[in-house]
Amino acid sequence: MLQKVVRSTIIDAPIERVWAVLRDFNSHDQWHDVVDASRIEGGERSDQVGCVRSFTLKDGNRIREQLITLSDREHKSTYCIVEATVPLQRYVATVTLKPVTDGGRTFWHWESTFATPPGMERELRDMVATGVYEAGFENLRRHLRAGADLRTPGSAPMPTALPMPMRCARVRAYGGPDALQPADGEAAAPGPGEVRIRQRAIGVNYFDVYLRKGWIPPLLPLPGVPGMEAAGTVLDVGPGVSGYMPGDRVAAMSPVPGAYASVRTLPAAHVVRLPAAVEAETAAALLLKGVTADMLLRDLGRVRAGTRLLVHAAAGGVGLLACAWARRLGATVIGTVSSEEKARVAREHGCQHVIVTRDYRFAEAVQQLGGADVIVDGLGDAAFEENFAALARCGHWISLGQATGGLRPLSPDLLVQKSATFSRPVVFDFCAAPGALAERAERVWAALADGSIRMPPIERYTLEAASQAHARLESRGTIGSLILIA
Ligand SMILES: NC(=O)c1ccc[n+]([C@@H]2O[C@H](COP(=O)([O-])OP(=O)(O)OC[C@H]3O[C@@H](n4cnc5c(N)ncnc54)[C@H](OP(=O)(O)O)[C@@H]3O)[C@@H](O)[C@H]2O)c1
Repeated sequence: MLQKVVRSTIIDAPIERVWAVLRDFNSHDQWHDVVDASRIEGGERSDQVGCVRSFTLKDGNRIREQLITLSDREHKSTYCIVEATVPLQRYVATVTLKPVTDGGRTFWHWESTFATPPGMERELRDMVATGVYEAGFENLRRHLRAGADLRTPGSAPMPTALPMPMRCARVRAYGGPDALQPADGEAAAPGPGEVRIRQRAIGVNYFDVYLRKGWIPPLLPLPGVPGMEAAGTVLDVGPGVSGYMPGDRVAAMSPVPGAYASVRTLPAAHVVRLPAAVEAETAAALLLKGVTADMLLRDLGRVRAGTRLLVHAAAGGVGLLACAWARRLGATVIGTVSSEEKARVAREHGCQHVIVTRDYRFAEAVQQLGGADVIVDGLGDAAFEENFAALARCGHWISLGQATGGLRPLSPDLLVQKSATFSRPVVFDFCAAPGALAERAERVWAALADGSIRMPPIERYTLEAASQAHARLESRGTIGSLILIA
């Protein structure tokens, strides 16, 4: 006969805060006292239906549980035990949250059905009801309170805040993709104004390649951990931090590298909260590249209806977002790509005129379309002459990156020939003002929600395989974004 256990409680925190913790299927080792250590098998996301969490209890028992359903709309998830040293059979549990009508509190309902060996019904029912559910309610309350205390300006840091072990991908000597090797490290306890994040998905950007190659040594002293962005959940916060609590789903984008890590501590100023609709993987694939597209189109290109925009690497991470968004703004979008497959995807993302070239020959084709009012150039030196030749009178050349090598010095006497302007932006400078990163990130999430940009294809690698991700990015074979799963 199936046993049934039902427990419910009221938690003194808003539903989104409670759900932020509970929707993460791997968060329980951070808040439930009975759980010793937990991991998601196979590098899957911890909110991916079907993922399996494998964990040990403090009493030494081992359990593997699978996430069966997860609904952000209903604030509900269902999971089952697939293997356990505890004799709980056919165990299926459901967690449901509902807002209490005063808005600031949450009703939490937790129930399960399971079978037991004969004679163990009562013992196991008590264990689930008291040891798991009722204790869990109390533990989560304490977890949320710890975050609340830390939010109070001037309050003391949590006494348990210690450096935390983490895995990372580290460069010991500058070089090719193999220079990036897995390593153990520590994430410092958050100091004043800092947040420590359990990172689930890490964005790979072409800039990370420059750092690994040693093109900007002051920014990546050796040994160094590259990576400028990631998404995950807040573990703890330092004194003086307001607005973040343990369990909050966040993304971070920082001008200081170090994101290729499973846990990272960094200034709260570089962190943004994620809306419920934006998964960690989506955020890691989109944040830096989307904010860059926002800077390119809004601030530098001033792209509007009729602007002829030339985007190089149009099927790349930044490229696809810039094409789609510019098209929505009414621009005529011209792109270069190196293969027919990339051309197809670029067209799907709004690039109307696609030029397929591997050797940076495009100026003639662009001039036949009237020349480019704005050029988004992540190519660098190999395309120098062609870019200038493709530029329209009074055009603006944005030198965004240098995938082919650093751009040679540019003379004002060259620009005057077309009354052209030139800029060499760094996206982080456009996010440095207080609130600027959050504002730009909001525009990216809104653009995704209203269809101005479409989800790009995402290539996933484990953090351990970061060198493979770099090799792929440099091969010119990738379409869309690359992310690492920690
Ligand atoms: N300044 C900033 O703040 C900022 C911020 C973000 C990105 N960026 C720059 O924007 C550019 C795009 O970045 P991303 O991360 O989205 O990368 P990406 O575009 O996904 O990948 C780079 C692309 O560059 C093209 N490419 C052309 N020649 C290449 C070569 N010799 N080696 C490798 N790739 C080559 C390839 O596309 P094809 O094969 O189709 O030509 C390749 O797919 C990069 O230059 C990056 O540095 C700058």
